[in-house]
Amino acid sequence: MSTDQRPRANTGLFRTKSVEQSIRDTEEPEHALRKSLSAWDLTVFGVGVIIGTGIFVLTGKVAKENAGPATALAFVAAGIVCALAALCYAEFASTVPVAGSAYTFAYASIGELPAWIIGWDLVLEFALGTAVVAVGWSGYVRSLMDNVGWHLPASLEGPDVAGGTFDILAFLLVLVLTVVLVLGMKLSARITAVVVAIKVTVVMIVIVAGLFFIVGDNYKPFIPPAVTPPGGGSGWSEPLVQLIFGYAPTNFGVMGIFTAASVVFFAFIGFDVVATAAEETKLPQRDMPRGILGSLLICTVLYVAVALVVTGMEKYTDLSTSAPLADAFKAAGHPWYAGVISFGAAVGLTTVCLILLLGQTRVFFAMSRDGLLPRFFSVTHPRFRTPYRPTILLGVIIAVVAGFTSINELATLVNIGTLFAFVVVAVGVMVLRRTRPDLPRAFRTPWVPVLPILSIAASVWLMLNLPGETWFRFAVWMVIGFVVYALYGRGHSRLGREGRGAEH
Ligand code: ALA
Repeated sequence: MSTDQRPRANTGLFRTKSVEQSIRDTEEPEHALRKSLSAWDLTVFGVGVIIGTGIFVLTGKVAKENAGPATALAFVAAGIVCALAALCYAEFASTVPVAGSAYTFAYASIGELPAWIIGWDLVLEFALGTAVVAVGWSGYVRSLMDNVGWHLPASLEGPDVAGGTFDILAFLLVLVLTVVLVLGMKLSARITAVVVAIKVTVVMIVIVAGLFFIVGDNYKPFIPPAVTPPGGGSGWSEPLVQLIFGYAPTNFGVMGIFTAASVVFFAFIGFDVVATAAEETKLPQRDMPRGILGSLLICTVLYVAVALVVTGMEKYTDLSTSAPLADAFKAAGHPWYAGVISFGAAVGLTTVCLILLLGQTRVFFAMSRDGLLPRFFSVTHPRFRTPYRPTILLGVIIAVVAGFTSINELATLVNIGTLFAFVVVAVGVMVLRRTRPDLPRAFRTPWVPVLPILSIAASVWLMLNLPGETWFRFAVWMVIGFVVYALYGRGHSRLGREGRGAEH
Protein backbone atom coordinates (compact mmCIF):
# COMPACT_ATOMS: atom_id res chain seq x y z
CA MET A 1 0.00 0.00 0.00
CA SER A 2 1.44 3.40 -0.87
CA THR A 3 1.47 5.93 1.92
CA ASP A 4 -1.03 8.09 0.05
CA GLN A 5 -3.64 5.39 0.33
CA ARG A 6 -3.08 4.91 4.04
CA PRO A 7 -6.43 5.06 5.82
CA ARG A 8 -6.69 8.31 7.71
CA ALA A 9 -9.20 9.76 10.12
CA ASN A 10 -10.24 12.57 7.84
CA THR A 11 -13.40 13.97 9.31
CA GLY A 12 -12.32 15.74 12.52
CA LEU A 13 -10.75 19.08 13.36
CA PHE A 14 -7.34 17.55 12.72
CA ARG A 15 -8.18 16.14 9.30
CA THR A 16 -5.21 16.74 7.02
CA LYS A 17 -5.11 17.36 3.33
CA SER A 18 -2.56 15.07 1.67
CA VAL A 19 0.36 16.73 -0.04
CA GLU A 20 -0.59 15.03 -3.29
CA GLN A 21 -4.09 16.44 -2.99
CA SER A 22 -2.74 19.93 -2.37
CA ILE A 23 -0.70 19.71 -5.54
CA ARG A 24 -3.60 18.19 -7.54
CA ASP A 25 -5.89 21.06 -6.52
CA THR A 26 -3.52 23.54 -8.13
CA GLU A 27 -3.84 21.73 -11.43
CA GLU A 28 -7.56 22.37 -11.85
CA PRO A 29 -7.53 24.86 -14.76
CA GLU A 30 -10.15 27.17 -13.31
CA HIS A 31 -8.23 27.49 -10.03
CA ALA A 32 -4.66 27.43 -11.37
CA LEU A 33 -2.04 30.17 -11.15
CA ARG A 34 0.56 30.68 -13.89
CA LYS A 35 4.02 29.16 -13.15
CA SER A 36 6.45 31.85 -14.19
CA LEU A 37 8.92 32.69 -11.37
CA SER A 38 12.59 31.66 -11.11
CA ALA A 39 14.98 31.60 -8.08
CA TRP A 40 16.22 35.02 -9.13
CA ASP A 41 12.65 36.39 -9.30
CA LEU A 42 12.03 34.97 -5.84
CA THR A 43 15.17 36.56 -4.37
CA VAL A 44 14.28 39.91 -5.89
CA PHE A 45 10.76 39.36 -4.64
CA GLY A 46 12.13 38.61 -1.14
CA VAL A 47 14.48 41.59 -0.95
CA GLY A 48 11.68 43.67 -2.42
CA VAL A 49 9.42 42.97 0.52
CA ILE A 50 11.94 42.50 3.32
CA ILE A 51 13.70 45.88 3.19
CA GLY A 52 11.12 48.46 4.18
CA THR A 53 9.62 50.35 7.06
CA GLY A 54 11.60 48.20 9.49
CA ILE A 55 15.01 49.51 8.50
CA PHE A 56 13.92 52.90 7.14
CA VAL A 57 11.73 53.91 10.09
CA LEU A 58 11.88 51.55 13.10
CA THR A 59 15.70 51.60 13.41
CA GLY A 60 15.65 55.17 14.72
CA LYS A 61 12.77 54.63 17.09
CA VAL A 62 14.26 51.50 18.61
CA ALA A 63 17.77 52.97 18.92
CA LYS A 64 16.37 56.00 20.66
CA GLU A 65 13.97 54.21 23.01
CA ASN A 66 15.23 50.65 23.58
CA ALA A 67 18.76 49.77 22.59
CA GLY A 68 21.00 52.67 21.49
CA PRO A 69 23.96 51.53 19.31
CA ALA A 70 23.19 47.94 20.35
CA THR A 71 20.30 48.10 17.86
CA ALA A 72 22.73 46.31 15.54
CA LEU A 73 22.66 43.41 18.03
CA ALA A 74 18.85 43.53 18.03
CA PHE A 75 18.97 43.03 14.26
CA VAL A 76 21.31 40.08 14.75
CA ALA A 77 18.95 38.54 17.34
CA ALA A 78 15.90 39.03 15.11
CA GLY A 79 17.89 37.73 12.12
CA ILE A 80 18.77 34.54 14.00
CA VAL A 81 15.11 33.94 14.88
CA CYS A 82 14.23 34.40 11.21
CA ALA A 83 17.07 32.20 9.94
CA LEU A 84 15.89 29.34 12.15
CA ALA A 85 12.35 29.80 10.90
CA ALA A 86 13.57 30.14 7.30
CA LEU A 87 15.25 26.74 7.46
CA CYS A 88 11.88 25.26 8.45
CA TYR A 89 9.98 27.30 5.88
CA ALA A 90 12.34 26.19 3.13
CA GLU A 91 11.68 22.51 3.77
CA PHE A 92 7.96 23.04 3.75
CA ALA A 93 7.95 25.25 0.71
CA SER A 94 9.99 22.76 -1.28
CA THR A 95 7.79 19.86 -0.20
CA VAL A 96 4.38 21.46 -0.57
CA PRO A 97 4.75 23.84 -3.53
CA VAL A 98 1.27 25.28 -3.34
CA ALA A 99 0.01 28.85 -2.78
CA GLY A 100 -0.73 29.80 0.81
CA SER A 101 2.52 29.59 2.78
CA ALA A 102 2.30 28.40 6.39
CA TYR A 103 -1.41 27.85 5.96
CA THR A 104 -0.94 25.19 3.28
CA PHE A 105 1.96 23.65 5.14
CA ALA A 106 -0.10 23.33 8.31
CA TYR A 107 -3.00 21.82 6.39
CA ALA A 108 -0.74 19.14 4.96
CA SER A 109 0.86 18.30 8.27
CA ILE A 110 -1.02 19.15 11.43
CA GLY A 111 -4.65 19.43 10.43
CA GLU A 112 -7.50 21.65 9.36
CA LEU A 113 -8.13 23.59 12.55
CA PRO A 114 -4.47 24.53 13.06
CA ALA A 115 -4.32 25.40 9.35
CA TRP A 116 -7.34 27.65 9.71
CA ILE A 117 -5.79 29.31 12.74
CA ILE A 118 -2.58 29.99 10.90
CA GLY A 119 -4.36 31.18 7.75
CA TRP A 120 -6.45 33.58 9.79
CA ASP A 121 -3.29 34.72 11.52
CA LEU A 122 -1.54 35.32 8.19
CA VAL A 123 -4.46 37.40 6.97
CA LEU A 124 -3.77 39.65 9.96
CA GLU A 125 -0.03 39.72 9.31
CA PHE A 126 -0.21 40.61 5.65
CA ALA A 127 -3.22 42.93 5.75
CA LEU A 128 -1.95 45.01 8.65
CA GLY A 129 1.63 44.78 7.37
CA THR A 130 0.46 46.30 4.07
CA ALA A 131 -1.31 49.07 5.95
CA VAL A 132 1.74 49.81 8.14
CA VAL A 133 4.04 50.10 5.16
CA ALA A 134 1.55 52.22 3.21
CA VAL A 135 1.44 54.70 6.08
CA GLY A 136 5.27 54.71 6.28
CA TRP A 137 5.43 55.34 2.54
CA SER A 138 3.01 58.20 2.87
CA GLY A 139 5.28 59.82 5.49
CA TYR A 140 8.30 59.73 3.17
CA VAL A 141 6.30 61.06 0.24
CA ARG A 142 5.03 63.94 2.36
CA SER A 143 8.58 64.67 3.43
CA LEU A 144 9.65 64.82 -0.22
CA MET A 145 6.68 67.05 -1.05
CA ASP A 146 7.70 69.36 1.79
CA ASN A 147 11.14 69.71 0.18
CA VAL A 148 9.57 71.25 -2.89
CA GLY A 149 7.08 73.29 -0.89
CA TRP A 150 3.92 71.24 -1.46
CA HIS A 151 1.73 70.57 1.54
CA LEU A 152 -1.40 68.52 1.99
CA PRO A 153 -4.17 69.84 4.22
CA ALA A 154 -3.40 68.56 7.75
CA SER A 155 -6.63 66.57 7.89
CA LEU A 156 -5.44 64.43 4.95
CA GLU A 157 -2.05 63.64 6.48
CA GLY A 158 -3.29 60.73 8.58
CA PRO A 159 -3.98 60.00 12.24
CA ASP A 160 -0.27 59.99 13.21
CA VAL A 161 -0.05 63.71 12.45
CA ALA A 162 -1.48 66.35 14.78
CA GLY A 163 -4.86 67.43 13.40
CA GLY A 164 -4.92 64.62 10.83
CA THR A 165 -7.68 62.06 10.44
CA PHE A 166 -7.36 60.36 7.06
CA ASP A 167 -4.16 59.41 5.24
CA ILE A 168 -5.14 60.02 1.65
CA LEU A 169 -1.75 58.99 0.21
CA ALA A 170 -1.65 55.62 1.97
CA PHE A 171 -5.24 54.99 0.89
CA LEU A 172 -4.51 55.76 -2.76
CA LEU A 173 -1.29 53.72 -2.79
CA VAL A 174 -3.07 50.55 -1.71
CA LEU A 175 -5.79 51.05 -4.32
CA VAL A 176 -3.28 51.53 -7.15
CA LEU A 177 -1.31 48.44 -6.10
CA THR A 178 -4.51 46.43 -6.01
CA VAL A 179 -5.05 47.24 -9.69
CA VAL A 180 -1.45 46.20 -10.48
CA LEU A 181 -2.02 42.83 -8.83
CA VAL A 182 -5.27 42.21 -10.62
CA LEU A 183 -3.48 42.81 -13.92
CA GLY A 184 -0.98 40.01 -13.25
CA MET A 185 1.99 38.62 -11.46
CA LYS A 186 4.55 39.15 -14.22
CA LEU A 187 3.83 42.83 -14.49
CA SER A 188 4.29 43.30 -10.77
CA ALA A 189 7.50 41.21 -10.75
CA ARG A 190 9.01 43.49 -13.42
CA ILE A 191 8.12 46.64 -11.55
CA THR A 192 9.49 45.02 -8.42
CA ALA A 193 12.89 44.32 -9.99
CA VAL A 194 13.47 47.97 -10.91
CA VAL A 195 12.30 49.27 -7.56
CA VAL A 196 14.36 46.75 -5.61
CA ALA A 197 17.47 47.96 -7.46
CA ILE A 198 16.74 51.54 -6.40
CA LYS A 199 16.09 50.51 -2.81
CA VAL A 200 19.24 48.44 -2.43
CA THR A 201 21.28 51.25 -4.00
CA VAL A 202 19.93 53.71 -1.46
CA VAL A 203 20.72 51.36 1.42
CA MET A 204 24.26 50.97 0.05
CA ILE A 205 24.58 54.77 -0.15
CA VAL A 206 23.63 54.99 3.53
CA ILE A 207 26.24 52.41 4.45
CA VAL A 208 29.13 53.58 2.27
CA ALA A 209 28.65 57.35 2.49
CA GLY A 210 27.72 57.13 6.16
CA LEU A 211 31.02 55.42 7.01
CA PHE A 212 32.78 58.75 6.45
CA PHE A 213 30.65 60.52 9.06
CA ILE A 214 30.96 58.04 11.94
CA VAL A 215 32.10 59.55 15.23
CA GLY A 216 33.52 56.90 17.60
CA ASP A 217 32.14 58.61 20.72
CA ASN A 218 28.58 57.95 19.55
CA TYR A 219 29.12 54.26 20.27
CA LYS A 220 29.82 54.93 23.95
CA PRO A 221 28.16 53.22 25.71
CA PHE A 222 27.41 50.57 23.08
CA ILE A 223 24.79 48.97 25.34
CA PRO A 224 23.31 51.88 27.29
CA PRO A 225 22.58 51.09 30.97
CA ALA A 226 19.03 50.03 31.85
CA VAL A 227 16.69 52.87 32.86
CA THR A 228 13.12 52.96 34.15
CA PRO A 229 10.77 54.02 31.33
CA PRO A 230 8.91 57.34 31.60
CA GLY A 231 5.86 57.00 33.85
CA GLY A 232 7.35 54.05 35.77
CA GLY A 233 6.56 51.59 33.01
CA SER A 234 3.71 49.73 34.63
CA GLY A 235 0.81 48.32 32.65
CA TRP A 236 -0.04 46.59 29.43
CA SER A 237 2.30 48.57 27.25
CA GLU A 238 5.25 46.73 28.85
CA PRO A 239 6.67 43.50 27.39
CA LEU A 240 4.66 40.48 28.52
CA VAL A 241 7.78 38.80 29.86
CA GLN A 242 8.19 41.68 32.32
CA LEU A 243 4.53 41.51 33.35
CA ILE A 244 4.63 37.74 33.87
CA PHE A 245 7.86 37.52 35.77
CA GLY A 246 7.42 40.80 37.60
CA TYR A 247 10.72 42.36 36.47
CA ALA A 248 11.06 46.04 37.21
CA PRO A 249 10.34 47.38 33.71
CA THR A 250 13.37 48.92 32.03
CA ASN A 251 14.43 50.35 28.71
CA PHE A 252 17.97 49.76 27.38
CA GLY A 253 20.35 47.33 29.04
CA VAL A 254 20.53 43.74 27.82
CA MET A 255 16.75 43.25 28.08
CA GLY A 256 16.32 46.35 25.93
CA ILE A 257 18.10 44.57 23.10
CA PHE A 258 15.41 41.90 23.10
CA THR A 259 12.61 44.45 23.31
CA ALA A 260 14.24 46.14 20.31
CA ALA A 261 14.57 42.79 18.53
CA SER A 262 10.85 42.10 18.95
CA VAL A 263 10.11 45.41 17.22
CA VAL A 264 12.76 45.41 14.46
CA PHE A 265 11.65 41.88 13.71
CA PHE A 266 9.18 43.71 11.45
CA ALA A 267 12.15 44.51 9.21
CA PHE A 268 12.54 40.81 8.37
CA ILE A 269 8.94 40.07 7.60
CA GLY A 270 8.62 39.08 4.01
CA PHE A 271 10.92 36.12 3.52
CA ASP A 272 7.94 33.98 4.49
CA VAL A 273 5.94 35.74 1.79
CA VAL A 274 8.31 34.27 -0.78
CA ALA A 275 6.92 30.89 0.21
CA THR A 276 3.42 32.04 -0.72
CA ALA A 277 4.53 32.19 -4.36
CA ALA A 278 5.56 28.53 -4.46
CA GLU A 279 2.75 27.63 -6.81
CA GLU A 280 3.85 30.28 -9.28
CA THR A 281 7.48 29.10 -9.27
CA LYS A 282 8.89 27.12 -12.19
CA LEU A 283 11.04 24.74 -10.12
CA PRO A 284 9.88 25.18 -6.53
CA GLN A 285 11.90 22.22 -5.21
CA ARG A 286 15.15 23.90 -6.10
CA ASP A 287 14.34 27.59 -6.32
CA MET A 288 12.23 28.12 -3.22
CA PRO A 289 14.96 27.46 -0.60
CA ARG A 290 17.41 29.50 -2.66
CA GLY A 291 14.99 32.42 -2.85
CA ILE A 292 14.07 32.39 0.84
CA LEU A 293 17.53 31.92 2.36
CA GLY A 294 19.26 34.15 -0.18
CA SER A 295 17.02 37.14 0.39
CA LEU A 296 17.17 36.73 4.17
CA LEU A 297 20.96 36.64 4.21
CA ILE A 298 21.35 39.72 2.03
CA CYS A 299 18.96 41.71 4.21
CA THR A 300 20.52 40.70 7.53
CA VAL A 301 23.96 41.88 6.43
CA LEU A 302 22.56 45.20 5.16
CA TYR A 303 20.54 45.83 8.35
CA VAL A 304 23.42 45.29 10.73
CA ALA A 305 25.58 47.59 8.61
CA VAL A 306 22.91 50.31 8.45
CA ALA A 307 22.25 50.13 12.21
CA LEU A 308 25.97 50.46 12.97
CA VAL A 309 26.46 53.35 10.55
CA VAL A 310 23.41 55.35 11.63
CA THR A 311 24.07 55.05 15.38
CA GLY A 312 27.70 55.95 14.64
CA MET A 313 26.73 59.08 12.67
CA GLU A 314 24.39 60.54 15.25
CA LYS A 315 24.08 60.06 19.01
CA TYR A 316 21.20 57.62 19.55
CA THR A 317 19.41 60.08 21.81
CA ASP A 318 19.28 62.58 18.91
CA LEU A 319 18.07 60.22 16.17
CA SER A 320 14.80 61.05 14.44
CA THR A 321 11.97 58.54 14.71
CA SER A 322 10.22 59.32 11.43
CA ALA A 323 13.04 59.34 8.84
CA PRO A 324 16.19 58.40 10.79
CA LEU A 325 18.38 57.38 7.86
CA ALA A 326 17.82 60.59 5.95
CA ASP A 327 17.90 62.79 9.04
CA ALA A 328 21.25 61.40 10.16
CA PHE A 329 22.70 62.83 6.93
CA LYS A 330 20.96 66.15 7.49
CA ALA A 331 22.49 66.24 10.97
CA ALA A 332 25.89 65.57 9.40
CA GLY A 333 25.32 68.59 7.09
CA HIS A 334 24.49 66.68 3.90
CA PRO A 335 20.88 67.40 2.94
CA TRP A 336 21.49 66.27 -0.65
CA TYR A 337 22.11 62.71 0.50
CA ALA A 338 19.04 63.00 2.71
CA GLY A 339 16.87 63.87 -0.31
CA VAL A 340 18.17 60.90 -2.31
CA ILE A 341 17.58 58.57 0.62
CA SER A 342 14.06 59.82 1.18
CA PHE A 343 13.29 59.34 -2.49
CA GLY A 344 14.67 55.78 -2.51
CA ALA A 345 12.78 54.93 0.66
CA ALA A 346 9.51 56.18 -0.81
CA VAL A 347 10.09 54.18 -4.00
CA GLY A 348 11.24 51.10 -2.08
CA LEU A 349 8.31 50.99 0.28
CA THR A 350 6.02 50.71 -2.73
CA THR A 351 7.23 47.17 -3.50
CA VAL A 352 7.00 46.13 0.13
CA CYS A 353 3.38 47.12 0.12
CA LEU A 354 2.78 45.39 -3.19
CA ILE A 355 4.26 42.07 -2.14
CA LEU A 356 2.60 41.99 1.27
CA LEU A 357 -0.69 42.64 -0.48
CA LEU A 358 0.11 39.81 -2.89
CA GLY A 359 0.91 37.40 -0.03
CA GLN A 360 -2.33 38.37 1.62
CA THR A 361 -4.46 37.66 -1.42
CA ARG A 362 -2.72 34.32 -2.02
CA VAL A 363 -3.44 33.06 1.50
CA PHE A 364 -7.07 34.13 1.18
CA PHE A 365 -7.19 32.43 -2.23
CA ALA A 366 -5.84 29.15 -0.85
CA MET A 367 -8.27 29.17 2.08
CA SER A 368 -11.15 29.81 -0.26
CA ARG A 369 -10.05 27.09 -2.66
CA ASP A 370 -10.23 24.68 0.27
CA GLY A 371 -13.76 25.80 1.10
CA LEU A 372 -12.82 27.33 4.46
CA LEU A 373 -13.81 30.69 3.00
CA PRO A 374 -16.41 30.99 0.20
CA ARG A 375 -15.22 29.31 -3.02
CA PHE A 376 -16.38 32.40 -4.90
CA PHE A 377 -13.03 33.98 -4.02
CA SER A 378 -10.83 31.31 -5.58
CA VAL A 379 -11.99 31.60 -9.19
CA THR A 380 -9.09 33.12 -11.11
CA HIS A 381 -9.55 35.80 -13.76
CA PRO A 382 -10.13 34.19 -17.17
CA ARG A 383 -7.60 36.44 -18.88
CA PHE A 384 -5.08 37.56 -16.23
CA ARG A 385 -5.15 34.27 -14.29
CA THR A 386 -5.00 36.18 -11.00
CA PRO A 387 -7.27 35.69 -7.97
CA TYR A 388 -8.92 39.03 -8.70
CA ARG A 389 -11.88 38.71 -6.35
CA PRO A 390 -10.00 38.48 -3.02
CA THR A 391 -7.44 40.95 -4.38
CA ILE A 392 -10.10 43.59 -4.92
CA LEU A 393 -12.04 42.90 -1.72
CA LEU A 394 -8.97 42.91 0.53
CA GLY A 395 -7.31 45.77 -1.33
CA VAL A 396 -10.24 48.05 -0.61
CA ILE A 397 -10.45 47.03 3.06
CA ILE A 398 -6.71 47.49 3.60
CA ALA A 399 -6.80 50.88 1.85
CA VAL A 400 -9.41 52.06 4.34
CA VAL A 401 -7.48 50.64 7.31
CA ALA A 402 -4.29 52.32 6.07
CA GLY A 403 -6.17 55.58 5.71
CA PHE A 404 -7.56 55.68 9.22
CA THR A 405 -5.06 53.81 11.44
CA SER A 406 -1.90 54.76 13.32
CA ILE A 407 1.12 52.57 12.54
CA ASN A 408 2.82 51.98 15.90
CA GLU A 409 0.46 49.52 17.49
CA LEU A 410 -0.25 47.77 14.21
CA ALA A 411 3.41 46.88 13.66
CA THR A 412 3.67 44.93 16.93
CA LEU A 413 0.43 43.12 16.13
CA VAL A 414 1.90 42.11 12.77
CA ASN A 415 5.01 40.81 14.55
CA ILE A 416 3.13 38.62 17.01
CA GLY A 417 1.07 37.11 14.21
CA THR A 418 4.15 36.34 12.15
CA LEU A 419 6.06 34.81 15.06
CA PHE A 420 3.07 32.63 15.79
CA ALA A 421 3.15 31.43 12.18
CA PHE A 422 6.83 30.54 12.63
CA VAL A 423 5.93 28.37 15.60
CA VAL A 424 3.30 26.50 13.62
CA VAL A 425 5.64 25.92 10.69
CA ALA A 426 8.38 24.53 12.95
CA VAL A 427 5.87 22.16 14.55
CA GLY A 428 4.70 21.20 11.07
CA VAL A 429 8.21 20.24 9.93
CA MET A 430 8.53 17.82 12.83
CA VAL A 431 5.03 16.38 12.34
CA LEU A 432 5.44 15.87 8.60
CA ARG A 433 8.78 14.13 9.05
CA ARG A 434 6.96 11.55 11.18
CA THR A 435 3.70 11.23 9.26
CA ARG A 436 5.14 11.46 5.71
CA PRO A 437 8.81 10.45 5.83
CA ASP A 438 8.43 9.18 2.27
CA LEU A 439 7.83 12.56 0.64
CA PRO A 440 10.59 13.90 -1.59
CA ARG A 441 12.13 16.95 0.07
CA ALA A 442 14.32 19.01 -2.22
CA PHE A 443 15.49 20.90 0.85
CA ARG A 444 15.75 19.25 4.25
CA THR A 445 15.91 21.28 7.44
CA PRO A 446 19.14 20.26 9.22
CA TRP A 447 19.18 18.78 12.75
CA VAL A 448 15.48 17.92 13.07
CA PRO A 449 14.04 18.03 15.72
CA VAL A 450 16.68 20.19 17.46
CA LEU A 451 16.54 23.06 14.98
CA PRO A 452 12.72 23.33 14.81
CA ILE A 453 12.58 23.23 18.62
CA LEU A 454 15.16 26.02 18.80
CA SER A 455 13.12 27.94 16.23
CA ILE A 456 9.99 27.59 18.38
CA ALA A 457 11.83 28.68 21.53
CA ALA A 458 13.37 31.69 19.78
CA SER A 459 10.04 32.81 18.28
CA VAL A 460 8.21 32.45 21.59
CA TRP A 461 10.93 34.44 23.31
CA LEU A 462 10.48 37.37 20.92
CA MET A 463 6.69 37.10 21.31
CA LEU A 464 7.10 37.37 25.09
CA ASN A 465 9.02 40.58 24.58
CA LEU A 466 6.01 42.19 22.91
CA PRO A 467 3.62 44.32 24.99
CA GLY A 468 0.77 42.75 26.96
CA GLU A 469 -1.76 44.82 24.99
CA THR A 470 -0.45 43.33 21.73
CA TRP A 471 -1.13 39.85 23.12
CA PHE A 472 -4.64 40.93 24.05
CA ARG A 473 -5.43 42.27 20.57
CA PHE A 474 -3.99 39.16 18.99
CA ALA A 475 -6.18 36.98 21.21
CA VAL A 476 -9.28 38.94 20.19
CA TRP A 477 -8.48 38.46 16.50
CA MET A 478 -7.96 34.74 16.97
CA VAL A 479 -11.24 34.35 18.87
CA ILE A 480 -13.06 35.98 15.95
CA GLY A 481 -11.29 33.45 13.73
CA PHE A 482 -12.57 30.52 15.79
CA VAL A 483 -16.10 31.84 15.49
CA VAL A 484 -15.83 32.18 11.69
CA TYR A 485 -14.43 28.66 11.42
CA ALA A 486 -17.15 27.20 13.62
CA LEU A 487 -19.93 29.00 11.73
CA TYR A 488 -18.61 28.63 8.16
CA GLY A 489 -15.34 26.85 7.48
CA ARG A 490 -15.99 23.69 9.40
CA GLY A 491 -19.19 22.89 7.51
CA HIS A 492 -18.02 24.07 4.08
CA SER A 493 -14.53 22.61 4.09
CA ARG A 494 -13.92 20.79 0.84
CA LEU A 495 -11.86 18.19 2.63
CA GLY A 496 -14.56 17.66 5.25
CA ARG A 497 -17.22 17.24 2.59
CA GLU A 498 -15.09 14.79 0.62
CA GLY A 499 -14.43 12.88 3.88
CA ARG A 500 -18.13 12.70 4.64
CA GLY A 501 -18.94 11.70 1.03
CA ALA A 502 -16.38 8.90 1.16
CA GLU A 503 -17.89 7.53 4.32
CA HIS A 504 -21.41 7.23 2.93
N1 ALA B 1 10.01 43.84 6.29
C1 ALA B 1 9.10 44.78 5.79
C2 ALA B 1 9.39 46.14 6.26
O1 ALA B 1 10.31 46.35 7.00
C3 ALA B 1 7.70 44.38 6.08
O2 ALA B 1 8.70 47.05 5.88
